[in-house]
Amino acid sequence: MPMDTRKPFMILMASQKGGVGKTTLALNLAVALRINQNFRVLLVDEDTDSASISEQLGIKAEGSGYQDVISGKTDLKQAMFVYQPIDLYIIPANSSTEKFKPKLDDFIRFHSKLARLDYDFVIVDNMPGFFADEVARYFDDVAIVTTPDRISAQGSSKMSEHCERHKLEHRLIINRFGSSKFDLERAEVEKMYGDLAFQIVPEDKIVEESVSKRRPAYLIDRTSDFSLAMDEVAGAYALKRRSGSIQSEFERTTKPSFFEKLGKVFFGR
Ligand SMILES: Nc1ncnc2c1ncn2[C@@H]1O[C@H](COP(=O)(O)OP(=O)(O)OP(=O)(O)O)[C@@H](O)[C@H]1O
Ligand SMILES: [Mg+2]
Repeated sequence: MPMDTRKPFMILMASQKGGVGKTTLALNLAVALRINQNFRVLLVDEDTDSASISEQLGIKAEGSGYQDVISGKTDLKQAMFVYQPIDLYIIPANSSTEKFKPKLDDFIRFHSKLARLDYDFVIVDNMPGFFADEVARYFDDVAIVTTPDRISAQGSSKMSEHCERHKLEHRLIINRFGSSKFDLERAEVEKMYGDLAFQIVPEDKIVEESVSKRRPAYLIDRTSDFSLAMDEVAGAYALKRRSGSIQSEFERTTKPSFFEKLGKVFFGR
């Protein structure tokens, strides 16, 4: 059954380990879907510890934001920021030094509202760690971001298990590939992640440039290796959105789980 096209396809960017590139990929995926595929995209910053989407774009987070919406101080539309160059909709997180702990009911209500908005894609940038069980059902897909090193890969295996517990579709994005900071070779990575859908995003200087220019890397140079990889990620999601869930159900029953594979590579089981 094809997906209801009025319902947004909701993607959660997640990782167990911090600093692997969730925000960078969430932003550039949103941009690639917006300008290359012409989708209507809403990007939501739920990382209330660092509010890094605003930081990456140089937006002053003085207006209302995610926390205000959750706690009912403002509504969704009022908290939205339009990134004018490409008409990308963003709900930024308020920058605050206090730890934000939403009430569970409010948190659930917020996600159920997101799932009813009129966008093609809603991309949620999360803080590191497991997502809350109660909102799992609102997401169509989890992009588990990892770097090619053992610690991050092990964290990803736990995240993959967490997704499987919730019967949530998920794929891996292996980011910063080719950087000497990380220790797994391509063959090892391919062996590990073999059958589970995954994409490789290279280490690229354009990302550093984008941080200093406060402009998404994809908009600085669409032909960079990083941007070409983002095109592939965006293309895979465009396909996923169009094809609905039958194929993925097939994938889930015929392919060994990521965790099984990882266990074999790292722990010999
Ligand atoms: N493909 C890449 N090439 C080069 N640098 C990258 C790439 N991806 C991310 N980075 C850099 O890695 C650092 C961490 O990225 P980012 O902030 O997106 O990670 P994160 O997972 O969102 O972190 P956190 O867990 O703190 O939210 C940043 O300095 C970013 O510029
Ligand atoms: Mg982040």
